[in-house]
Amino acid sequence: MATTSKSHIATLFFFFSVIACSYAAIDPNKLPKNTFIHFPIRKNQSTLQYYTTFDFNPPDSFTIVDALIDLGAPTVWIDCTSYKSSTYKRVSCRSNKCKKSMSPYCLRCNGPLAPGCSNNTCGVGAYNPFTEHLTVQEFGEDTMRASSTDGRYVLIDYDVPQFQFSCADDLSVLGLPGDHTKGLVGLGRTQVSLASQISSSFNLPPKFALCLPSSSEYGLGDIYVGGGPYYMPPVIGDQSSSFARTPLVVNPVSTSPDSYIQGSSVEYFISVKHIEINGKHVSFNSSLLSFDKNGVGGTKISTIAPYTILHASIYKRLVKDFVKEATLKKIKRVTSVAPFGACFDSKTISKSITGPAVPDIDLVLEGNMVSEKFRLSGSNLMVEAKKNVLCLAIIDGGAEPRTSIVLGGHQLEDRLLEFDLSTSILGFTPSLLLSNTSCSHSRLF
Ligand SMILES: *[C@@H]1O[C@H](CO)[C@@H](O)[C@H](O)[C@H]1NC(C)=O
Ligand SMILES: *[C@@H]1O[C@H](CO)[C@@H](O)[C@H](O)[C@H]1NC(C)=O
Ligand SMILES: *[C@@H]1O[C@H](CO)[C@@H](O)[C@H](O)[C@H]1NC(C)=O
Ligand SMILES: *[C@@H]1O[C@H](CO)[C@@H](O)[C@H](O)[C@H]1NC(C)=O
Repeated sequence: MATTSKSHIATLFFFFSVIACSYAAIDPNKLPKNTFIHFPIRKNQSTLQYYTTFDFNPPDSFTIVDALIDLGAPTVWIDCTSYKSSTYKRVSCRSNKCKKSMSPYCLRCNGPLAPGCSNNTCGVGAYNPFTEHLTVQEFGEDTMRASSTDGRYVLIDYDVPQFQFSCADDLSVLGLPGDHTKGLVGLGRTQVSLASQISSSFNLPPKFALCLPSSSEYGLGDIYVGGGPYYMPPVIGDQSSSFARTPLVVNPVSTSPDSYIQGSSVEYFISVKHIEINGKHVSFNSSLLSFDKNGVGGTKISTIAPYTILHASIYKRLVKDFVKEATLKKIKRVTSVAPFGACFDSKTISKSITGPAVPDIDLVLEGNMVSEKFRLSGSNLMVEAKKNVLCLAIIDGGAEPRTSIVLGGHQLEDRLLEFDLSTSILGFTPSLLLSNTSCSHSRLF
């Protein structure tokens, strides 16, 4: 649902036109002061997937790669079937670069020699979360191109030499949006994620921020690597000043589908203490909110789940309490539309600045001194399932999910989330719609 008006977005367009967009083959370590790196985010409205775009392998050929954004994935992989490059190099087994990937695999290939096929090569898993297709593929490196930003405008393109990714096959990309998405960008807690590689090659602080768009019809969202300031016109000032902060907690047990990846999970978890609807406690067994000895339980953040998924016993209580509060607002419940369990007649719901005026749901999080609320309201909560029917955009995850709360894309949109890996802190703004802006900016790339 587009909640921001067109005229409003037209205003954003003028604020966000590009001042300069030239190419610099200079030492990447010399990024000017107070600039960092930016990648765009688009959303496929039919598959509800978020993807980014980057350029590979300048200057002899020019490959633009669209890649799915997977916040919790450990690596970057792209389909190398038609990849041609004179600067591509494989990473050999047991090299330091291979060790960084934490992968135990060493690959051989019967040829012919090509990117993705050589002997004595470091092998890294390439996992497609939609088809659950997991293969071990050649780990290689090439020059990629990245744009700097000052938080306001996209400025200059830089070469990022020796950017590492695994060279997947064409089966790996099945189920990714459109015919154009040829890879996956992992932002997980590893040394070979997109964010870690970019931060280290530009000597930027190890942090990144996401602004997921609810639609990319009128503008694009953002991945910022290296820190703020973050400007969201027409708001004056840096959005990081409105951050609430909560610790990123580590799940001590790996959640990777690749069983050879040992140790703690590389996904991002936060500590939800309880949930409130209109300020009232939702009651459920709170032991679901922490990890058991097998790493089951807890709350993770996912850009792959389109909607938040809850353990059945949390889901049941939350829906019951939400319906009760909605009824108090004279909102009429109607027959549910799968996969949702609580749907309402949209003609009985009034409008607010954040979208449909439904009861707010607060995730009450561990904070520094006091707890912090991650407030979900309006369009972060509701989705139009059919004409005149708005449903609570949260899904039942069954009685035995691995993770009790998976905070999904719809609930993360239109707010800025900053993952600081040096302090293990998540910074998050309230909904940007409250300040008349959003994560759909118009920019030229
Ligand atoms: C890998 O080694 C085998 C055996 O020595 C050889 O037949 C094959 O062609 C080599 N593969 C490549 C890609 O060079
Ligand atoms: C979105 O994904 C669907 C399914 O893969 C595809 O048919 C469609 O072309 C994609 N849309 C865009 C704008 O890429
Ligand atoms: C809560 O769940 C835990 C783990 O599933 C269980 O051991 C405990 O008995 C439950 N507590 C209550 C009050 O149901
Ligand atoms: C947002 O826009 C509305 C209507 O244009 C206006 O009434 C409101 O004051 C604005 N809010 C902020 C925070 O700028």
